[in-house]
Amino acid sequence: MSTPLRLGIAGLGTVGTGVVKIVRQKANLLAERAGRPITITAVSARTRDKDRGVNINSYAWEDDPVALATRDDVDIFVELMGGSDGPAKAATEAALKAGKDVVTANKAMLAHHGQALAQLAEDAGAVLRFEAAVAGGIPVVKALTEGLAGNDVTRVMGVMNGTCNYILTRMQSAGLPYDEVFEEANQLGYLEADPTLDVGGIDAGHKLSLLAAVAFGCQVDFPSVELQGIERITIEDIHHAADMGYRIKLLGVAQLTGRGLEQRMSPCLVPENSPLGQLEGGTNMVVLEGDQVEQIVLRGPGAGEGPTASAVMGDVMDIARNFRVTTFGVPAAALTQSKPAKTATPAPYYLRLALDDKPGALAKLATVLGDAGVSIDRMRQYRHDDSTAPILIVTHKTTRDALEAVLKDMSGLDVLASPPVALRIESV
Ligand SMILES: NC(=O)c1ccc[n+]([C@@H]2O[C@H](COP(=O)([O-])OP(=O)(O)OC[C@H]3O[C@@H](n4cnc5c(N)ncnc54)[C@H](OP(=O)(O)O)[C@@H]3O)[C@@H](O)[C@H]2O)c1
Repeated sequence: MSTPLRLGIAGLGTVGTGVVKIVRQKANLLAERAGRPITITAVSARTRDKDRGVNINSYAWEDDPVALATRDDVDIFVELMGGSDGPAKAATEAALKAGKDVVTANKAMLAHHGQALAQLAEDAGAVLRFEAAVAGGIPVVKALTEGLAGNDVTRVMGVMNGTCNYILTRMQSAGLPYDEVFEEANQLGYLEADPTLDVGGIDAGHKLSLLAAVAFGCQVDFPSVELQGIERITIEDIHHAADMGYRIKLLGVAQLTGRGLEQRMSPCLVPENSPLGQLEGGTNMVVLEGDQVEQIVLRGPGAGEGPTASAVMGDVMDIARNFRVTTFGVPAAALTQSKPAKTATPAPYYLRLALDDKPGALAKLATVLGDAGVSIDRMRQYRHDDSTAPILIVTHKTTRDALEAVLKDMSGLDVLASPPVALRIESV
């Protein structure tokens, strides 16, 4: 058997220990599949004497991840510390400059520095891979760069933050308000130390920007992702959307249009009987659409020790087999600088309105919609509760400009008890 492939792993938390376990427990299987042994020579973390539930005594220890990344006995630097800058970026750059291949699960770092790091890797003749960064255990980067390489990708979308999907589906199943379920998720340890990364859509937005780069051959453009979190989703909207045949999801959509690249991470309605609508709990789902394949749906765990380590090992095994793909599927210099679309593709919208119990109130709403050229597909009025009645409207496809005009004009009406709620309905 040929020479071993030697890993240096920086970060021994959830994902890092998962990778150590796979390398130790599946040594024979990995060696057979790769045609060479996969070994670990050195590791790094913040605290040396922490019990990590896995034996790391036989590996060299480095306090400094940069020193680890440049060791002569390390072939692949495996970056599993996290953070967009700081030691993760410094060590990744050092490894690439030293001509070493890098595998990372770090979406924040790639969302902010993906283009520069991909270029650095190519200049040094190294590869930089990040399967674990996008949807945990789902091999979506491989699906796009390999299986779908003969397609023009038309749209990618997905539920890519398990915590948000847990919160939204738990609100629905238990009938609990957002704040209560948020606290429950916190107690269960599902939330990041900074919860806005999850519920504000930032973590999922990082993933979407990476997916868009791979799908459309463009430079990662995280600042252009339109981000809206789930913090303002109420139990009323969860119930009313269900009444109209929909589920609310924090959905990422990237689409290349004649008007530029659309990248949205926002709460949307999807039909309850669609694969996305039926996605429960912390599971992720990515939907890929190509001109030849039409649509494929990938579903699986988006986080956790085993699934994320599985994706890291997929990248390691490619390198071990000498399968070397550019970071985003085309050479870094060929990645286009996409133009962000200023407007979104027209879509139907869900509107929830609290209408005062006054004669002519409904007619005023209809006039506002009509004046903006927005037509109603379906409408439902519930019984008056005290002095207001909830009205639900599903519009026909409309532009966002027209919708914004409606919302502005409605805010000037004297028949609404509270500002209208508007959510996009994504066709899936
Ligand atoms: N957890 C998941 O399910 C998941 C899923 C997809 C992607 N990811 C990504 O994978 C990466 C790792 O996530 P994780 O959940 O495994 O994180 P984690 O459990 O917090 O572990 C982070 C590890 O990095 C070490 N570390 C932090 N700063 C360091 C420094 N300055 N020098 C050396 N070591 C340092 C920590 O050391 P100590 O242990 O000594 O504190 C710890 O071992 C992140 O980029 C994350 O976004 C995670």
